[in-house]
Amino acid sequence: MVTITFDGKSYPGGNESVLESLTKAGLFIPHSCKSGLCQACEMRLMEGQIPNQGYKGLTDNKIQANHFLACQCIPTQDISIATLDGEVKNISTTLIHRIQVSQSIFKLVLEPKKTLSYCAGQYLRVYHSKNDFRCYSIASNPDLEETIELHIQVIPSGKVSNWLVKEVKIGEQIEVSEAMGSCIYPNNNMSPTLFIASNSGLAPIYGMLKKALYQGDKQVFHLVHGVTSEKDKYLTEELRELKNAYPNLKITWFDYSLVETNKQKVFIDTALSQINSPQDWKVYFCGHPDMVAYGKKQSFLKGVSMKNLYSDAFVPSKVN
Ligand SMILES: Cc1cc2nc3c(=O)[nH]c(=O)nc-3n(C[C@H](O)[C@H](O)[C@H](O)COP(=O)(O)OP(=O)(O)OC[C@H]3O[C@@H](n4cnc5c(N)ncnc54)[C@H](O)[C@@H]3O)c2cc1C
Ligand code: FES
Repeated sequence: MVTITFDGKSYPGGNESVLESLTKAGLFIPHSCKSGLCQACEMRLMEGQIPNQGYKGLTDNKIQANHFLACQCIPTQDISIATLDGEVKNISTTLIHRIQVSQSIFKLVLEPKKTLSYCAGQYLRVYHSKNDFRCYSIASNPDLEETIELHIQVIPSGKVSNWLVKEVKIGEQIEVSEAMGSCIYPNNNMSPTLFIASNSGLAPIYGMLKKALYQGDKQVFHLVHGVTSEKDKYLTEELRELKNAYPNLKITWFDYSLVETNKQKVFIDTALSQINSPQDWKVYFCGHPDMVAYGKKQSFLKGVSMKNLYSDAFVPSKVN
């Protein structure tokens, strides 16, 4: 057994994550995905050492600042830790536009009260209340858009998605975090790039695609958008206009409902068939966690380099 010292008190730990140990002890530590993806459970290591897994997905700057993820850290020695209270900067935004764009997805546009810096492809925490939030990806292009576009998939009995599309009124305030995540499109990219999205996974990819094309990148881009059914297709007009304006963009829509078996395999095979010399390509995956995990594995087996694989798995929150 190891001892976790937090807020002046000691708690037993080991054989489970720091998040689980502190939750069992009756403390509330903000968290969401419990999978090392949303970074909601980020804390600071004050004393001791933790296994590398605790740093999974954090930037070098954060690691140097002794940040770690409580849901990924299973301590093997005594540690002393603290919250990041006050270190994550939240920003107030105004909901200025909302429109239903498919059977299950709404587009929301938020106007930040002060500048919100972000990279194409990053995501935000959207707060329902102080400790209750969900992650949503930014569909805007940081080079040209000051407003924040979000694509919200309405989850049956989902607390925050239903609140965002049914309860918050135009003109009301929504609290969001600073931008997070490392699945981003860079300022300089020469590689042909395949973007693979399922359902609202199109959000970050739309932001990255706009950045890439508007900044004048001339290499080949393929977008493959998988939807549960025809009624879930969205942004088709906007994407067709992009395709007409930029001959280096090719778009394929994929309807999962038309495939009887092995849907994920057929989708990923269709997407990866766009690639001829895999070692030259960057591949981005955004959307359902199973699609992302399977797609990354198949891309690697096909010959895409690990360093050229980028992803955001839309892991549901696990707040209860
Ligand atoms: C980095 C990141 C970026 C994301 N970006 C987006 C985005 O741009 N657009 C978007 O729509 N979503 C996105 N998500 C997913 C979104 O955060 C979750 O779907 C969230 O849980 C929805 O909140 P809710 O309050 O509506 O439902 P909850 O109250 O959290 O969930 C209600 C129930 O539905 C289940 N559930 C929740 N989401 C899903 C789902 N997607 N599929 C199946 N079951 C689900 C939960 O497990 C729970 O049982 C992202 C997630 C991550 C981690
Ligand atoms: S990264 Fe730990 S809860 Fe999401």
